[in-house]
Amino acid sequence: MKIAIGSDHAGFGLKESIKMEFKKDSSLEFVDVGTSSIESVDYPDYAEKVVEKIRNNEVERGILICGTGIGMSITANKFKGIRATLCFNEELASLSRKHNNSNLLVLPGRFMEVSRAVRMIKIWQKTLFEGGRHERRLKKIEDIEKKEVE
Ligand code: RB5
Repeated sequence: MKIAIGSDHAGFGLKESIKMEFKKDSSLEFVDVGTSSIESVDYPDYAEKVVEKIRNNEVERGILICGTGIGMSITANKFKGIRATLCFNEELASLSRKHNNSNLLVLPGRFMEVSRAVRMIKIWQKTLFEGGRHERRLKKIEDIEKKEVE
């Protein structure tokens, strides 16, 4: 699976560790959109880069990391078709796929150990959307998106 990954300075360390941990995992290929150092940057710029890659079908899904995960979530969910889910444990990562068909996993870089992030990503990558009643609810979100004026 091809996944775009991006972070601000507060998520940079976790982003680099995640890439390193998955280096030998051929089931997952990261497209890194930056940032590339701990120099202060603005998280919306990187949220937009990852979202672009998903919406252009260059990747299947995305991962975004900032300090809390909150800024990245707020930004990514402004875009139609993006279901960005801020998760902090394995169960949430799983439910974000089963119930919300998450296409963008958001992680809180300042509050997340690398080992947990790796376990969460593996679960999130493999877990399927359950559909059914959840499909109806996602359709309602799409309807809300359509009602929104530019
Ligand atoms: C950066 O200091 C921090 O505000 C950012 O990473 C994020 O936590 C915002 O939501």
